Amino acid sequence: ASTLGAAAAQSGRYFGAAVAASKLGDSTYVNILNREFNMVTAENEMKWDATEPNRGQFNYSSGDRILNQATGNGKRMRGHALLWYQQEPGWAQRMEGSDLRQAMMNHVTQVATHYKGKIYAWDVVNEAFADGGSGGRRDSNLQRTGNDWIEAAFRAARAADPAAKLCYNDYNTDGVNAKSTGIYNMVRDFKARGVPIDCVGFQSHLSGNPPGDYQANLQRFADLGVEVQITELDISGSNQANAYAAVTRACLAVARCAGITTWGIRDTDSWRTGENPLLFDGNGNKKAAYTSVLDALNSA
Ligand code: G3I
Repeated sequence: ASTLGAAAAQSGRYFGAAVAASKLGDSTYVNILNREFNMVTAENEMKWDATEPNRGQFNYSSGDRILNQATGNGKRMRGHALLWYQQEPGWAQRMEGSDLRQAMMNHVTQVATHYKGKIYAWDVVNEAFADGGSGGRRDSNLQRTGNDWIEAAFRAARAADPAAKLCYNDYNTDGVNAKSTGIYNMVRDFKARGVPIDCVGFQSHLSGNPPGDYQANLQRFADLGVEVQITELDISGSNQANAYAAVTRACLAVARCAGITTWGIRDTDSWRTGENPLLFDGNGNKKAAYTSVLDALNSA
């Protein structure tokens, strides 16, 4: 196959990109999006600060533009993200305790209901685990509402949109380490207790090759009975093309790895300014990393 999406589809997988609503008028950008990708994530437009700028007052205009662009061109969408300690609207940042818990669950219910039936998978909770060696939760006002906030969010999301796969999503979880093991233990506990979780997202913001146990780490989560997804892939460094191929091959080698999303389209679209971590250059030309991903997908 000659595009990323079609090549991934040969093995029943998807290939996606994060999309910004503000770029939907850029024809180079939209042409690449429409040609290459069959999954879309809103880079910012479905986050809490964007969708509920004032408590109980919802704004879906930018998120809907991306959804319509995607579904109108036969692409599916990943929803990102219902609850995250960053990009909370100011009113939520100033809240705590049971009042905040209620606002959090209302947010999950309202947004998942608005997009009901239209989202392939939701990042229900994003980045709730701490970096470093503790393997524990990250401190935040969300976490301080009680350790059960994550499972409560997953239950609320399931009730609002039973068809969407529900994911936990995080970074620095690429290999077997304290953080990924903390998340692994949570997922295992959720599965054992019937908390609705369907997938784990590995953001994979990398510098050079993924860790040597990248595939094994994906596999141990898959063995818990959840789908694994590469959700925000971008890779800096001179070994970029090889590293992209290694990530692609790892996903292809794990039966429950459903697909790969890059966090943007062109290098100039990336949040990693100056690092050129994506598959297309600033002019929209395919880079060596593009070819190495396409070749890896085609040789599956
Ligand atoms: O659109 C406003 C603009 O109107 C304003 O003038 C300007 C001044 O600050 O800000 C613009 O918003 C920025 C937005 O990106 C759009 O460019 C925000 O400040 C900025 O914080 C925001 O950064 C985003 C970041 O998440 C925080 O939400 C990045 O684009 C986005 O790529 C990044 O994505 C995250 C994932 O959601 C979670 N995983 C990590 C990943 C990278 O940080």
